[in-house]
Amino acid sequence: TSNEAERMIQVYELANKFYHHLLLNTKEGQNALNYLLTRGFSEEIIKTFEIGYALNQKEFMTRFLMKKGFSLEFLEKAGLMIQKEDGSYFDRFRDRIIFPIKDHNGKVIAFSGRVMNNGDQPKYLNSPETKIFNKRKILYNFHQARLHIRKKQEVVLFEGFADVISAVKAGILHSVATMGTSLTEEHAKLLSRHAETVIICYDSDSAGVEATFRASKLLSHAGCKVKVAMVPEGYDPDDYIKQFGEEKFRQDVVGASVTLMAFKMQYYRKGKKLQDEADRLKYIEEIIDELSMISNEIEQELYLKQLAEEFSLSKDTLKSQLKERLAAKK
Ligand code: GTP
Ligand code: MN
Ligand code: MN
Ligand code: MN
Ligand code: MN
Repeated sequence: TSNEAERMIQVYELANKFYHHLLLNTKEGQNALNYLLTRGFSEEIIKTFEIGYALNQKEFMTRFLMKKGFSLEFLEKAGLMIQKEDGSYFDRFRDRIIFPIKDHNGKVIAFSGRVMNNGDQPKYLNSPETKIFNKRKILYNFHQARLHIRKKQEVVLFEGFADVISAVKAGILHSVATMGTSLTEEHAKLLSRHAETVIICYDSDSAGVEATFRASKLLSHAGCKVKVAMVPEGYDPDDYIKQFGEEKFRQDVVGASVTLMAFKMQYYRKGKKLQDEADRLKYIEEIIDELSMISNEIEQELYLKQLAEEFSLSKDTLKSQLKERLAAKK
């Protein structure tokens, strides 16, 4: 029932206030607070994102919430408590930094908990999907970013919510991230309804590059203009900001974002010696293949011209190649 959904939001809101309090105002939260401050998350940003801390105790939160009138059964359903076969139970989140995940109205609907020392535990632990938490639909920070996105007709899409937090701190207020899943059609539709342009700013590792290709397809399909903001090898956006500063991130990463095609050209060039014939041919083929997927003829024309000039080829030859490629696909 919708009543159950409302109660679930209530319990998440309540738990969130408590986790946030524990982080900022208790001795037990001191370590976690130091971890965040050392990472470069200011006290102001911790408050803006209502970051919290779950104590290193077995059933602390469950007991608190039961006292507030929530049943064990309900807490289990909400994903805040885990019950074992023998009837004993424990809090899902223990000794973790708690990042509240909010719906597009700003209500807490889930948590993601991060370990402070990477051991054998998974780095992040999320709430399970519930009646109110659907990863395919939710975008982290969308509620706070929405107006900025609309005003700029632009949104910056990150891979991790830690990147969003740092980006917002750096003044990039129109930042969002998926919740550890790849971008879905639902996400793409949502973004296309709010902005003309989506700037993808994923991690620079190979997983991030692959995800950029995948996301760009969905976004183009949904009618968005796609740009790519590239972070140098070895960094994710959050690492980059920490290492080089907010100003450089704004200017040299987000401000220097390139068109999707320029990103692809750069990608296909990697590891090739374009003065060698075989590599050159391969590169041209890859670009023609990419161009065959662009529906905008002006854009096709533009890149054909660029390709012709760079390799001293006739534009007509390239064009007939492209036509062949298009025909083969039909
Ligand atoms: P930090 O290490 O805190 O800077 O996080 P990050 O944002 O750099 O994380 P990473 O690039 O490794 O992963 C990107 C996103 O994938 C995260 O924001 C999470 O949503 C998700 N993710 C990463 N590790 C895990 C994990 O161990 N479990 C789950 N469920 N999700 C994860
Ligand atoms: Mn924001
Ligand atoms: Mn990554
Ligand atoms: Mn990362
Ligand atoms: Mn990171």
